[in-house]
Amino acid sequence: MAHDFREIFRESRFGLFLHWGLYSLLGRGEWVMNREQIPPEEYAKLAEQFTARAFDADAIASLAKAAGMRYAVLTTKHHEGFSLWDSKINLFNSVHSAAKRDFVAEFTRAMRKRNLGVGLYYSLGDWHNPDWEKGYRSDAAARKRFMEYTHGLVRELMTNYGQIDILWYDLPQNYTAEEWGMAELNREVRSLQKTILINNRGMTSEDFGTPEQGLGVRRAGRMWESCMTLNDTWGFTRGDHHYKSARDVVGRLCECAGGCGNLLLNVGPDGEGAIPPRAERLLREVGRWLQTNGEAIYASTPHAMTWNLLGNSVTARGNSLYLPVERWNMQGEIVIGRLACHVRRVSLLGHGRSLKFRQETDRLVIGDLPIRAPGMIPVLKVECDQIPAQNFAERYREMDVFPEFPA
Ligand code: GLC
Repeated sequence: MAHDFREIFRESRFGLFLHWGLYSLLGRGEWVMNREQIPPEEYAKLAEQFTARAFDADAIASLAKAAGMRYAVLTTKHHEGFSLWDSKINLFNSVHSAAKRDFVAEFTRAMRKRNLGVGLYYSLGDWHNPDWEKGYRSDAAARKRFMEYTHGLVRELMTNYGQIDILWYDLPQNYTAEEWGMAELNREVRSLQKTILINNRGMTSEDFGTPEQGLGVRRAGRMWESCMTLNDTWGFTRGDHHYKSARDVVGRLCECAGGCGNLLLNVGPDGEGAIPPRAERLLREVGRWLQTNGEAIYASTPHAMTWNLLGNSVTARGNSLYLPVERWNMQGEIVIGRLACHVRRVSLLGHGRSLKFRQETDRLVIGDLPIRAPGMIPVLKVECDQIPAQNFAERYREMDVFPEFPA
């Protein structure tokens, strides 16, 4: 059934990014071909080893669901130029590999079955197709061929796999938007996929911004999605055990939700297509946190609360304010200054009962808290009589008198 994913995306807050391709077999990240200058003919032989024995789109969809994610984005073709689908235009693809499978078909079907939004990442850059490089080195014929190839591949993705919710371009840098024919291409994409969202990495700004490893800037009405790695790298990298903790991920999620953006969290399946066990455990832990605290994350709305210990992590939904707190003072209290609204009720998510609080002019003092915080990042819900805000005017006046540091 068709749905308007644009509205869902606006409130989703959490999605899964999957970086997977031939590079996953080498375990040295998705830039390995370029970094190590592996000749294209030699690199292409990896397709013969690409059995994808452990790639299970249904299991991935279930995991994303358990993690509390609302959509997923698969790298259908990364810079290496290998298509994970049955392309008639790019024969360097997964149907002609050892796996003989169409992973875009498997992925889109599995995500839809679990009611997850379907996102397709497509790298405009292509190290396999010689025309990509020849074209920008001013070979006009090669450039023309490359643009036809690009438009043709995007058309296949937009035509053969049902409703696609997100088109996630990447690596456009070597050509201008005009050279890519972006206006024309996106017009065609939108005519094939009426409700699709297109990211801003095709040299045009389109529907949403894509800050990488950081947070987006709040701009009225503009959607953003922060893409982030779970460990240090995007594509599977042997020895990269530097994982964020579930607590770190929850912290990032709060920050994204606080700024009304989404977090697209990456996992790099290994060469066989298996999700690293540690990544899986982590995602499930985040999912358990969301079961209790999702109210603070999904469909979060704007607020004006930034001047407190919790900084960017504060979120709001309508008149309710959510404070992800791990520490409170020794008296079992937490204090928020400069609150410019009346508080009606305070509670701890997942614990129901009301907590004692008092409001003295613009100071909110919440008491009655257990001395040790229960669980990973508990969330206090503060119900106000209006959209939560702090008294900014005064803050800026004070900030103005801070001495300037010498240059
Ligand atoms: C970086 C990486 C690229 C990856 C992208 C995801 O730009 O270089 O390989 O796909 O991040 O946002």
